[in-house]
Amino acid sequence: MKNIKKCVFPVAGMGTRFLPATKANPKEMLPVVDKPLIQYAAEEAVAAGVETLIFVTGRNKRSIEDHFDTAYEMERELEAKGKKDMLAILRGILPKHVNCVFIRQSEALGLGHAVLCAKPVVNDEPFSVILADDLINFAKKPCLSQMVDVFNYQHCSVLGTQTVPKESVSSYGIVDGTEVRPGLMEVSGIVEKPSIKNAPSTTAVVGRYILTPHIFQKLEQTERGAGGEIQLTDAIAALLKDQRVLSYNFEGKRFDCGSKLGYLQAQVEFALEHKELGKDFMAYLNTLAGENNKKIVSIKKKA
Ligand code: UTP
Repeated sequence: MKNIKKCVFPVAGMGTRFLPATKANPKEMLPVVDKPLIQYAAEEAVAAGVETLIFVTGRNKRSIEDHFDTAYEMERELEAKGKKDMLAILRGILPKHVNCVFIRQSEALGLGHAVLCAKPVVNDEPFSVILADDLINFAKKPCLSQMVDVFNYQHCSVLGTQTVPKESVSSYGIVDGTEVRPGLMEVSGIVEKPSIKNAPSTTAVVGRYILTPHIFQKLEQTERGAGGEIQLTDAIAALLKDQRVLSYNFEGKRFDCGSKLGYLQAQVEFALEHKELGKDFMAYLNTLAGENNKKIVSIKKKA
């Protein structure tokens, strides 16, 4: 089996939970501290050995293409002003050996359909998928690198999972299966957004996949499912009948940046860890939490 050299980023969703911010801008361009979500995702893929980034875009996605393109005018201006640090930031967004491919999903027919749009570029090799709005902070190894380790050993599709509270199962694809070793499960079933009553477990798929190319055949046969969309989960359920699929509980903290609360939590935690800002930001939060507590309450009352 070939190595994972390609990663698909489905970025054609409407982002309705984040309106009005996402009216004219894709949610993947929302910044967490100083980098847009899509850049964290691209860095995670590159760290895992990916060399081709495939963006499946929709309307309003020009800014993603611009972000990964060379900004000649800005570079020339920074050069003329001798702003070397800024220039290095601009030029360092992606390493030179990494290529970007942009594919248009003409209609937002769902995540499964978005992944299928990448078929002509992925061809006949295993590949990864990252949903950039699931931002994952890590202590030792980025999430996709952990999953690639599992893939290189097991040579089958791997789903990135986390245990979620019971009352949240209806927001996720939920897997059923048998534990192979702690954190690794042989998947026997998967269901999209089940009710608490029908959920087979509390193990949820969260925005990271390694898939064999056989998934494309299954996606082509997948009818519209939950929400009238072509669901990736349904195609994985079909894939299971032909091939082994594992789920892997990765190490790391995941933030649902497609929701306003998850996005705010990510801002706070990434800001606290930021090399230049962390200390000052911590001091600021301490003032809010400490002697100025009354002030926070009064601001809230005013609103
Ligand atoms: P979401 O379920 O988060 O949907 O999609 P959404 O439209 O982006 O956001 P809300 O729910 O309206 O706020 C999961 C992922 O699948 C992509 C999205 O961009 C996101 O990364 N997606 C979804 C597509 O690329 N195309 C689609 O047709 C649907």
